[in-house]
Amino acid sequence: MSSSFFGTLVVALNDYLTQLDDLVQQARCAFAEAHTAEQLEAARIEYLGAKNGRLKVAQKGLGSVDKADKPAAGKQFNETKVAVEAAFEEAKSGLAGEAASADDGAFDPTEPGSRLVRGRLHPITQTIADLKDIMGRLGFSVAEGPEIEDEWHNFEALNISESHPARDPLENFYLATAEANGAAVEHESPLLLRSQTSTVQIRVMEQTQPPVRIISLGRVYRPDTADPTHYPMFHQVEGLMVDRDVSMADLKSVLRLFARSYLGEDVHVRFRPSFFPFTEPSVEVDMSRHDADGEWIEFGGAGMVDPHVLRSVGYDPEEFTGFAFGLGVERLCARRHRINDIREFYKNDIRFLHQF
Ligand code: PHE
Repeated sequence: MSSSFFGTLVVALNDYLTQLDDLVQQARCAFAEAHTAEQLEAARIEYLGAKNGRLKVAQKGLGSVDKADKPAAGKQFNETKVAVEAAFEEAKSGLAGEAASADDGAFDPTEPGSRLVRGRLHPITQTIADLKDIMGRLGFSVAEGPEIEDEWHNFEALNISESHPARDPLENFYLATAEANGAAVEHESPLLLRSQTSTVQIRVMEQTQPPVRIISLGRVYRPDTADPTHYPMFHQVEGLMVDRDVSMADLKSVLRLFARSYLGEDVHVRFRPSFFPFTEPSVEVDMSRHDADGEWIEFGGAGMVDPHVLRSVGYDPEEFTGFAFGLGVERLCARRHRINDIREFYKNDIRFLHQF
Protein backbone atom coordinates (compact mmCIF):
# COMPACT_ATOMS: atom_id res chain seq x y z
CA MET A 1 0.00 0.00 0.00
CA SER A 2 1.15 3.53 -0.71
CA SER A 3 -0.35 6.97 -0.43
CA SER A 4 -1.17 9.43 -3.18
CA PHE A 5 -0.23 13.06 -3.05
CA PHE A 6 -3.49 13.96 -1.37
CA GLY A 7 -3.39 11.20 1.18
CA THR A 8 -5.94 9.07 -0.61
CA LEU A 9 -5.30 5.45 -0.01
CA VAL A 10 -4.11 3.77 -3.15
CA VAL A 11 -4.60 0.07 -2.95
CA ALA A 12 -2.01 -2.22 -4.45
CA LEU A 13 -3.36 -4.61 -7.02
CA ASN A 14 -2.34 -7.71 -5.09
CA ASP A 15 -4.11 -6.60 -1.98
CA TYR A 16 -7.26 -5.89 -3.93
CA LEU A 17 -7.16 -9.26 -5.59
CA THR A 18 -6.70 -10.99 -2.25
CA GLN A 19 -9.69 -9.13 -0.87
CA LEU A 20 -11.77 -10.39 -3.77
CA ASP A 21 -10.63 -13.96 -3.20
CA ASP A 22 -11.56 -13.76 0.46
CA LEU A 23 -14.90 -12.30 -0.46
CA VAL A 24 -15.75 -15.23 -2.70
CA GLN A 25 -14.67 -17.77 -0.05
CA GLN A 26 -16.63 -16.12 2.71
CA ALA A 27 -19.71 -15.61 0.59
CA ARG A 28 -19.70 -19.28 -0.41
CA CYS A 29 -19.52 -20.33 3.24
CA ALA A 30 -22.23 -17.93 4.33
CA PHE A 31 -24.64 -19.10 1.62
CA ALA A 32 -23.87 -22.76 2.24
CA GLU A 33 -24.51 -22.38 5.95
CA ALA A 34 -27.90 -20.77 5.50
CA HIS A 35 -30.49 -23.43 6.35
CA THR A 36 -33.59 -21.32 6.31
CA ALA A 37 -34.93 -18.76 3.89
CA GLU A 38 -34.39 -16.07 6.55
CA GLN A 39 -30.70 -16.99 7.01
CA LEU A 40 -30.16 -17.01 3.28
CA GLU A 41 -31.81 -13.63 2.93
CA ALA A 42 -29.55 -12.22 5.68
CA ALA A 43 -26.48 -13.57 3.84
CA ARG A 44 -27.74 -12.14 0.57
CA ILE A 45 -28.08 -8.71 2.12
CA GLU A 46 -24.60 -8.96 3.61
CA TYR A 47 -22.92 -9.91 0.35
CA LEU A 48 -25.20 -8.81 -2.47
CA GLY A 49 -27.07 -5.93 -0.80
CA ALA A 50 -27.40 -3.09 -3.29
CA LYS A 51 -26.34 -0.38 -0.86
CA ASN A 52 -23.74 -1.70 1.54
CA GLY A 53 -23.32 -5.29 0.43
CA ARG A 54 -19.71 -6.43 0.49
CA LEU A 55 -19.66 -6.82 -3.25
CA LYS A 56 -20.82 -3.23 -3.60
CA VAL A 57 -18.09 -2.12 -1.23
CA ALA A 58 -15.53 -4.05 -3.26
CA GLN A 59 -16.84 -2.37 -6.40
CA LYS A 60 -16.28 1.01 -4.81
CA GLY A 61 -12.80 -0.17 -3.84
CA LEU A 62 -12.00 -0.38 -7.55
CA GLY A 63 -11.74 3.37 -7.51
CA SER A 64 -8.75 3.16 -5.20
CA VAL A 65 -6.77 0.85 -7.42
CA ASP A 66 -3.91 2.36 -9.31
CA LYS A 67 -4.95 3.47 -12.75
CA ALA A 68 -2.61 1.08 -14.54
CA ASP A 69 -3.97 -1.85 -12.57
CA LYS A 70 -7.61 -1.05 -13.18
CA PRO A 71 -8.21 -3.37 -16.16
CA ALA A 72 -6.89 -6.40 -14.25
CA ALA A 73 -8.73 -5.43 -11.07
CA GLY A 74 -11.98 -4.79 -12.97
CA LYS A 75 -11.79 -8.14 -14.68
CA GLN A 76 -11.26 -9.89 -11.37
CA PHE A 77 -14.09 -7.95 -9.80
CA ASN A 78 -16.48 -9.11 -12.53
CA GLU A 79 -15.49 -12.71 -12.00
CA THR A 80 -15.96 -12.32 -8.28
CA LYS A 81 -19.41 -10.90 -8.81
CA VAL A 82 -20.42 -13.81 -11.05
CA ALA A 83 -19.06 -16.34 -8.52
CA VAL A 84 -20.86 -14.78 -5.54
CA GLU A 85 -24.14 -14.57 -7.43
CA ALA A 86 -23.78 -18.18 -8.56
CA ALA A 87 -23.15 -19.31 -4.97
CA PHE A 88 -26.30 -17.52 -3.88
CA GLU A 89 -28.46 -19.04 -6.67
CA GLU A 90 -27.16 -22.50 -5.84
CA ALA A 91 -27.99 -22.13 -2.15
CA LYS A 92 -31.42 -20.74 -3.05
CA SER A 93 -32.40 -23.63 -5.32
CA GLY A 94 -31.02 -26.09 -2.75
CA LEU A 95 -33.37 -24.68 -0.12
CA ALA A 96 -36.35 -24.72 -2.54
CA GLY A 97 -35.67 -28.38 -3.38
CA GLU A 98 -35.58 -29.32 0.30
CA ALA A 99 -38.86 -27.54 0.90
CA ALA A 100 -40.49 -29.37 -2.02
CA SER A 101 -39.36 -32.81 -0.93
CA ALA A 102 -40.48 -32.08 2.62
CA ASP A 103 -43.96 -31.28 1.19
CA ASP A 104 -44.12 -34.61 -0.64
CA GLY A 105 -44.19 -36.58 2.54
CA ALA A 106 -46.54 -34.23 4.32
CA PHE A 107 -50.08 -35.49 4.70
CA ASP A 108 -52.52 -33.40 6.61
CA PRO A 109 -55.43 -35.61 7.68
CA THR A 110 -57.38 -32.62 8.97
CA GLU A 111 -57.72 -31.03 5.52
CA PRO A 112 -61.28 -31.26 4.13
CA GLY A 113 -61.55 -33.68 1.20
CA SER A 114 -62.61 -32.62 -2.30
CA ARG A 115 -66.25 -33.27 -3.04
CA LEU A 116 -67.16 -36.02 -5.52
CA VAL A 117 -69.37 -34.85 -8.36
CA ARG A 118 -72.39 -37.09 -8.69
CA GLY A 119 -73.20 -38.10 -12.27
CA ARG A 120 -76.65 -38.30 -13.82
CA LEU A 121 -78.34 -40.32 -16.48
CA HIS A 122 -78.67 -38.52 -19.81
CA PRO A 123 -82.13 -36.94 -20.17
CA ILE A 124 -82.92 -39.22 -23.13
CA THR A 125 -81.96 -42.29 -21.10
CA GLN A 126 -84.20 -41.05 -18.29
CA THR A 127 -87.05 -40.48 -20.74
CA ILE A 128 -86.68 -43.99 -22.15
CA ALA A 129 -86.89 -45.40 -18.62
CA ASP A 130 -90.02 -43.32 -17.92
CA LEU A 131 -91.70 -44.39 -21.15
CA LYS A 132 -90.97 -48.07 -20.46
CA ASP A 133 -92.50 -47.61 -17.03
CA ILE A 134 -95.67 -45.99 -18.31
CA MET A 135 -96.21 -48.49 -21.11
CA GLY A 136 -95.35 -51.34 -18.76
CA ARG A 137 -98.28 -50.34 -16.58
CA LEU A 138 -100.48 -50.59 -19.68
CA GLY A 139 -99.28 -54.15 -20.24
CA PHE A 140 -96.66 -53.54 -22.94
CA SER A 141 -93.38 -55.40 -22.64
CA VAL A 142 -90.08 -54.19 -24.10
CA ALA A 143 -88.65 -55.66 -27.32
CA GLU A 144 -85.27 -54.94 -28.87
CA GLY A 145 -83.91 -54.99 -32.40
CA PRO A 146 -80.59 -54.28 -34.12
CA GLU A 147 -79.58 -50.83 -35.33
CA ILE A 148 -77.98 -52.32 -38.45
CA GLU A 149 -80.81 -53.74 -40.53
CA ASP A 150 -81.50 -55.43 -43.83
CA GLU A 151 -83.96 -54.13 -46.39
CA TRP A 152 -86.49 -56.83 -45.54
CA HIS A 153 -87.06 -55.58 -41.99
CA ASN A 154 -86.59 -51.89 -42.70
CA PHE A 155 -88.70 -51.79 -45.89
CA GLU A 156 -90.08 -54.89 -47.61
CA ALA A 157 -91.90 -56.58 -44.77
CA LEU A 158 -93.32 -53.15 -43.94
CA ASN A 159 -94.86 -52.98 -47.41
CA ILE A 160 -92.45 -50.26 -48.54
CA SER A 161 -91.92 -51.13 -52.20
CA GLU A 162 -88.70 -50.79 -54.15
CA SER A 163 -89.93 -47.61 -55.83
CA HIS A 164 -90.98 -45.86 -52.62
CA PRO A 165 -89.08 -42.59 -52.09
CA ALA A 166 -88.24 -43.63 -48.49
CA ARG A 167 -85.87 -46.22 -49.98
CA ASP A 168 -83.82 -43.64 -51.85
CA PRO A 169 -80.15 -44.22 -50.93
CA LEU A 170 -79.92 -40.47 -50.26
CA GLU A 171 -82.63 -40.77 -47.60
CA ASN A 172 -80.83 -43.53 -45.72
CA PHE A 173 -77.48 -44.48 -44.27
CA TYR A 174 -76.51 -47.55 -46.28
CA LEU A 175 -73.39 -49.36 -45.13
CA ALA A 176 -70.49 -49.53 -47.56
CA THR A 177 -70.70 -52.86 -49.38
CA ALA A 178 -67.92 -55.40 -49.48
CA GLU A 179 -67.72 -54.69 -53.20
CA ALA A 180 -66.96 -51.05 -52.52
CA ASN A 181 -64.07 -52.20 -50.34
CA GLY A 182 -62.63 -54.17 -53.24
CA ALA A 183 -63.64 -57.61 -51.93
CA ALA A 184 -65.71 -59.99 -54.03
CA VAL A 185 -68.19 -60.95 -51.31
CA GLU A 186 -71.85 -60.48 -52.22
CA HIS A 187 -74.46 -59.52 -49.68
CA GLU A 188 -77.87 -61.08 -50.03
CA SER A 189 -79.32 -57.78 -48.98
CA PRO A 190 -77.61 -54.43 -48.56
CA LEU A 191 -77.39 -53.31 -44.94
CA LEU A 192 -78.35 -49.94 -43.55
CA LEU A 193 -78.71 -48.12 -40.25
CA ARG A 194 -82.40 -48.51 -39.46
CA SER A 195 -84.45 -45.45 -40.33
CA GLN A 196 -87.33 -46.39 -38.02
CA THR A 197 -88.05 -48.68 -35.10
CA SER A 198 -90.94 -50.23 -37.06
CA THR A 199 -88.36 -52.88 -37.97
CA VAL A 200 -88.90 -54.31 -34.50
CA GLN A 201 -92.63 -54.84 -35.22
CA ILE A 202 -91.59 -57.29 -37.92
CA ARG A 203 -88.95 -59.01 -35.81
CA VAL A 204 -91.40 -59.55 -32.96
CA MET A 205 -94.26 -60.78 -35.16
CA GLU A 206 -91.93 -63.15 -37.02
CA GLN A 207 -91.16 -64.82 -33.72
CA THR A 208 -94.38 -64.72 -31.71
CA GLN A 209 -98.04 -65.39 -32.23
CA PRO A 210 -100.78 -62.94 -31.17
CA PRO A 211 -101.66 -61.50 -28.77
CA VAL A 212 -98.72 -59.08 -29.08
CA ARG A 213 -98.32 -56.02 -26.91
CA ILE A 214 -94.81 -54.55 -27.11
CA ILE A 215 -92.90 -51.31 -27.21
CA SER A 216 -89.42 -50.84 -28.58
CA LEU A 217 -87.20 -47.87 -27.90
CA GLY A 218 -83.97 -47.04 -29.60
CA ARG A 219 -81.87 -45.08 -32.03
CA VAL A 220 -82.81 -44.49 -35.65
CA TYR A 221 -80.80 -42.75 -38.36
CA ARG A 222 -81.71 -40.44 -41.23
CA PRO A 223 -79.49 -38.07 -43.22
CA ASP A 224 -81.46 -35.01 -42.06
CA THR A 225 -79.89 -31.64 -41.48
CA ALA A 226 -79.83 -30.88 -37.77
CA ASP A 227 -82.26 -28.14 -36.71
CA PRO A 228 -84.32 -27.48 -33.57
CA THR A 229 -86.58 -30.48 -34.27
CA HIS A 230 -84.33 -32.78 -36.34
CA TYR A 231 -81.09 -34.64 -35.78
CA PRO A 232 -79.47 -37.28 -38.04
CA MET A 233 -79.67 -39.75 -35.15
CA PHE A 234 -82.65 -39.72 -32.84
CA HIS A 235 -84.75 -42.09 -30.76
CA GLN A 236 -88.18 -43.50 -31.39
CA VAL A 237 -90.65 -45.27 -29.17
CA GLU A 238 -92.52 -47.86 -31.21
CA GLY A 239 -95.69 -49.50 -29.97
CA LEU A 240 -97.45 -52.54 -31.39
CA MET A 241 -100.58 -54.29 -30.26
CA VAL A 242 -102.10 -57.19 -32.21
CA ASP A 243 -105.05 -59.21 -31.03
CA ARG A 244 -108.64 -60.02 -31.93
CA ASP A 245 -110.76 -56.89 -32.35
CA VAL A 246 -108.09 -54.25 -31.79
CA SER A 247 -109.41 -50.96 -33.15
CA MET A 248 -108.47 -47.36 -33.83
CA ALA A 249 -110.25 -46.46 -30.56
CA ASP A 250 -107.76 -48.62 -28.66
CA LEU A 251 -104.91 -46.80 -30.40
CA LYS A 252 -106.22 -43.41 -29.44
CA SER A 253 -106.97 -44.45 -25.85
CA VAL A 254 -103.51 -45.89 -25.35
CA LEU A 255 -101.80 -42.84 -26.87
CA ARG A 256 -103.88 -40.47 -24.79
CA LEU A 257 -103.10 -42.34 -21.58
CA PHE A 258 -99.45 -42.48 -22.54
CA ALA A 259 -99.27 -38.75 -23.35
CA ARG A 260 -101.06 -37.72 -20.17
CA SER A 261 -98.86 -39.88 -18.00
CA TYR A 262 -95.67 -38.50 -19.45
CA LEU A 263 -96.59 -34.91 -20.33
CA GLY A 264 -99.35 -34.07 -17.88
CA GLU A 265 -103.15 -34.15 -17.73
CA ASP A 266 -103.58 -31.01 -19.82
CA VAL A 267 -102.04 -32.38 -23.01
CA HIS A 268 -104.29 -32.91 -26.03
CA VAL A 269 -103.70 -35.59 -28.65
CA ARG A 270 -104.82 -35.08 -32.24
CA PHE A 271 -104.84 -37.47 -35.21
CA ARG A 272 -104.40 -36.13 -38.73
CA PRO A 273 -105.11 -38.45 -41.68
CA SER A 274 -101.87 -39.53 -43.30
CA PHE A 275 -100.25 -42.40 -45.18
CA PHE A 276 -97.73 -45.07 -44.23
CA PRO A 277 -97.30 -48.20 -46.36
CA PHE A 278 -97.48 -50.40 -43.24
CA THR A 279 -100.66 -48.99 -41.67
CA GLU A 280 -104.17 -48.52 -43.01
CA PRO A 281 -105.69 -46.19 -42.06
CA SER A 282 -102.70 -44.06 -41.06
CA VAL A 283 -102.47 -40.91 -38.98
CA GLU A 284 -99.94 -38.33 -37.88
CA VAL A 285 -99.94 -37.93 -34.13
CA ASP A 286 -99.88 -34.32 -32.88
CA MET A 287 -99.90 -33.11 -29.31
CA SER A 288 -100.67 -29.65 -28.00
CA ARG A 289 -97.79 -27.35 -27.15
CA HIS A 290 -97.28 -26.63 -23.49
CA ASP A 291 -97.60 -22.86 -23.83
CA ALA A 292 -99.45 -21.54 -26.85
CA ASP A 293 -103.16 -22.35 -27.19
CA GLY A 294 -104.12 -23.96 -30.44
CA GLU A 295 -100.58 -24.84 -31.47
CA TRP A 296 -99.61 -28.43 -32.18
CA ILE A 297 -96.37 -30.36 -32.39
CA GLU A 298 -96.00 -33.47 -34.54
CA PHE A 299 -94.67 -36.40 -32.55
CA GLY A 300 -94.82 -39.20 -35.11
CA GLY A 301 -97.10 -41.59 -36.93
CA ALA A 302 -99.54 -44.36 -36.16
CA GLY A 303 -102.29 -46.47 -37.64
CA MET A 304 -103.86 -49.90 -37.95
CA VAL A 305 -101.36 -52.53 -39.05
CA ASP A 306 -101.80 -53.08 -42.80
CA PRO A 307 -103.14 -56.57 -43.73
CA HIS A 308 -100.16 -56.92 -46.09
CA VAL A 309 -97.81 -56.62 -43.14
CA LEU A 310 -99.78 -59.12 -41.06
CA ARG A 311 -99.65 -61.55 -43.97
CA SER A 312 -95.91 -61.05 -44.53
CA VAL A 313 -95.23 -62.33 -41.02
CA GLY A 314 -97.71 -65.20 -41.30
CA TYR A 315 -100.62 -63.72 -39.36
CA ASP A 316 -104.18 -64.10 -40.63
CA PRO A 317 -105.59 -60.59 -41.14
CA GLU A 318 -109.12 -62.01 -41.02
CA GLU A 319 -108.53 -63.16 -37.48
CA PHE A 320 -106.24 -60.48 -36.05
CA THR A 321 -106.02 -56.74 -36.21
CA GLY A 322 -103.54 -54.43 -34.60
CA PHE A 323 -102.36 -50.89 -34.15
CA ALA A 324 -98.83 -49.48 -34.26
CA PHE A 325 -97.32 -46.12 -33.45
CA GLY A 326 -93.87 -44.56 -33.62
CA LEU A 327 -93.06 -41.34 -31.79
CA GLY A 328 -89.89 -39.24 -31.38
CA VAL A 329 -88.37 -39.59 -27.93
CA GLU A 330 -86.36 -36.33 -28.15
CA ARG A 331 -89.52 -34.39 -28.93
CA LEU A 332 -91.37 -35.96 -25.99
CA CYS A 333 -88.52 -35.15 -23.62
CA ALA A 334 -88.22 -31.61 -25.03
CA ARG A 335 -91.97 -30.99 -24.67
CA ARG A 336 -91.94 -32.15 -21.07
CA HIS A 337 -88.93 -30.08 -20.04
CA ARG A 338 -89.78 -27.09 -22.26
CA ILE A 339 -86.62 -27.33 -24.31
CA ASN A 340 -86.99 -25.76 -27.72
CA ASP A 341 -84.00 -27.24 -29.52
CA ILE A 342 -83.33 -31.00 -29.48
CA ARG A 343 -79.70 -30.40 -30.52
CA GLU A 344 -79.08 -29.48 -26.87
CA PHE A 345 -79.32 -33.18 -26.03
CA TYR A 346 -76.19 -33.93 -28.03
CA LYS A 347 -73.91 -31.00 -27.27
CA ASN A 348 -72.68 -32.69 -24.10
CA ASP A 349 -72.71 -29.36 -22.29
CA ILE A 350 -72.47 -30.39 -18.65
CA ARG A 351 -74.37 -27.27 -17.54
CA PHE A 352 -77.35 -28.36 -19.64
CA LEU A 353 -77.15 -32.03 -18.66
CA HIS A 354 -76.87 -31.29 -14.94
CA GLN A 355 -80.40 -29.91 -14.91
CA PHE A 356 -82.02 -33.31 -15.30
N1 PHE B 1 -92.21 -45.58 -38.66
C1 PHE B 1 -92.91 -44.35 -38.86
C2 PHE B 1 -91.88 -43.24 -38.98
O1 PHE B 1 -90.78 -43.41 -38.64
C3 PHE B 1 -93.85 -44.06 -37.74
C4 PHE B 1 -94.94 -45.06 -37.64
C5 PHE B 1 -94.82 -46.13 -36.78
C6 PHE B 1 -96.10 -44.93 -38.40
C7 PHE B 1 -95.83 -47.05 -36.67
C8 PHE B 1 -97.11 -45.85 -38.28
C9 PHE B 1 -96.97 -46.90 -37.42
O2 PHE B 1 -92.19 -42.14 -39.37
